Amino acid sequence: MKLMNDLILRAAKGEQIERYPVWLMRQAGRILPEYRAVRATLSGFKELVETPERAAEVTIQPVDILGVDAAIIFSDILVVPEAMGLEYQMIEQKGPWFEKTIRTESDLYLADSHIDVYDRLGYVLEAIKITNKELNGRVPLIGFAGAPWTILCYMVEGKGSKTFSESRKMLYTNPTLAHELLRRITDVTIQYLKAQIEAGAHMVQLFDSWAGILGKEQYAEFGLKYISKIADAITEVPLTVFSKGALTSIEVIAKTNCATIGLDWNMDVVEVRKAIGETRTIQGNLDPCALYSSEKEVERQTINMLDKFTSKRHIVNLGHGVYPDIDPEKVKTFIKTVKNYELRNL
Ligand code: CP3
Repeated sequence: MKLMNDLILRAAKGEQIERYPVWLMRQAGRILPEYRAVRATLSGFKELVETPERAAEVTIQPVDILGVDAAIIFSDILVVPEAMGLEYQMIEQKGPWFEKTIRTESDLYLADSHIDVYDRLGYVLEAIKITNKELNGRVPLIGFAGAPWTILCYMVEGKGSKTFSESRKMLYTNPTLAHELLRRITDVTIQYLKAQIEAGAHMVQLFDSWAGILGKEQYAEFGLKYISKIADAITEVPLTVFSKGALTSIEVIAKTNCATIGLDWNMDVVEVRKAIGETRTIQGNLDPCALYSSEKEVERQTINMLDKFTSKRHIVNLGHGVYPDIDPEKVKTFIKTVKNYELRNL
């Protein structure tokens, strides 16, 4: 199907654009009353994720309501550990919880890499197909997965954590087990992303939310080594790598075969551009908290960020997912400001 708006794909590939494309991580979710209304008709988050028609509906909501330049499929990074054998629950107000965890070799039966992603994750693929049919080419659809290190964090810890010290402990006490687990997650992630692309995802993103808790050397060995394998395998569409908190690794990330690098709000766009040159697109990176300020200030902060861009290779986003209590009107101001911004002759 021909896309009517392919700005984000052109920006990812470093092609000509008329203006910067804009979307928000976590845009399909709790900031919208329309999302909460759909969610209230179901038993919970998981039922929504596993019901393709409803997942497609909430995926399209931010396109209709906020006017973003891309949709991101409504799902979660935790569907991968579940498909491999570790079931999770999403506990209201608390977050994910896994009954079992992986701590020793004898737990590896809970991380099966010889699975059929079409069977285990067919509901996501179906949601992608329905979304594209209903979007009818209005904007591209982004597929995603968690990066292997972040998925390992949840498989080992079993829940959210500020430090993920059980996961980091494994890197010191049993690096062989950590590598085996990362290898298995990588295998499944490649198959899963390829299946998403086959189903219709126009670009894909890896979320490495816990990249920043590792030092540079450990992140190279346990994080980027596997991201690089995924980037080598995904040749069909542009890939974005979002390694939150991994400022010291930006140049290494830029050496992987990704098209776009996601920046969190602590990273300086000017410095990163200087460090990586023009070979990769930069995505980001307004502080999500900036959207708590007045409309005038949101506008000022957004323009301030845009003025720092010295290249056309940018996709505008926040530096992390939008917070649930943000007023959708502020999100609209952010998006409008980006769309009205006149592209200088860069
Ligand atoms: O971006 C989107 O709009 C698409 C959907 C999406 C969700 N999760 C839906 C969701 C995406 C891309 C994710 C990614 C994700 N999930 C990450 C990586 C990005 C990041 O934020 O760092 C991580 C670490 C997870 C795991 C996860 N899922 C946690 C820790 C939680 C609980 C805390 C929270 O943020 O709500 C979730 C739940 C979740 N995933 C919700 C949504 C809309 C909230 C569930 C609800 O509706 O109650």
